Amino acid sequence: MKEVKIESTFKVYEGFSELPDDIQHLMQSAIETRENAYAPYSKFKVGAAILLDNNEVVVGSNQENASYPSGLCAERTAIYYAGAKYPTAKILKMALTASSQNQITDSPIPPCGACRQAISEYEIKQDKPIEIYFMGATGKVVKSNSLANLLPLGFDRSFL
Ligand code: THU
Repeated sequence: MKEVKIESTFKVYEGFSELPDDIQHLMQSAIETRENAYAPYSKFKVGAAILLDNNEVVVGSNQENASYPSGLCAERTAIYYAGAKYPTAKILKMALTASSQNQITDSPIPPCGACRQAISEYEIKQDKPIEIYFMGATGKVVKSNSLANLLPLGFDRSFL
């Protein structure tokens, strides 16, 4: 038996205004898109903006359903659309923001496990890390250089 230690490193920005200009721009798209969320059940709106290597920005927001599991997170709405519309483009960066109507969302909101798995698929497919920035409605912004940092011991195509 041996013990294995897996470490991840993240950058934490004090707030939106500390982000580099291009990331502020991408995050602003995510913030605007967040307002298009259809979240009548959770009252939790999420916005995602994806920058592709063809310079296009693809956005998505969470879309809920009275049959709860039929809804979809913002990240997957955006990344599946990017894959559908620009199948050969590489995903460079993702900006994520979430805002609850029930409480102040001032801590960074990371993508859920299912979205990590979905983003991981594209990161592996394109063989290039995806930078991920996530925040609440206000407050600190976390940057991960790669999805892999957020999903240790992930399941991927190599097992199939
Ligand atoms: N949600 C996202 O859009 N992304 C996540 O990573 C976490 C959760 C959405 C799904 C649902 O509409 C609401 O937030 C509450 O879970």
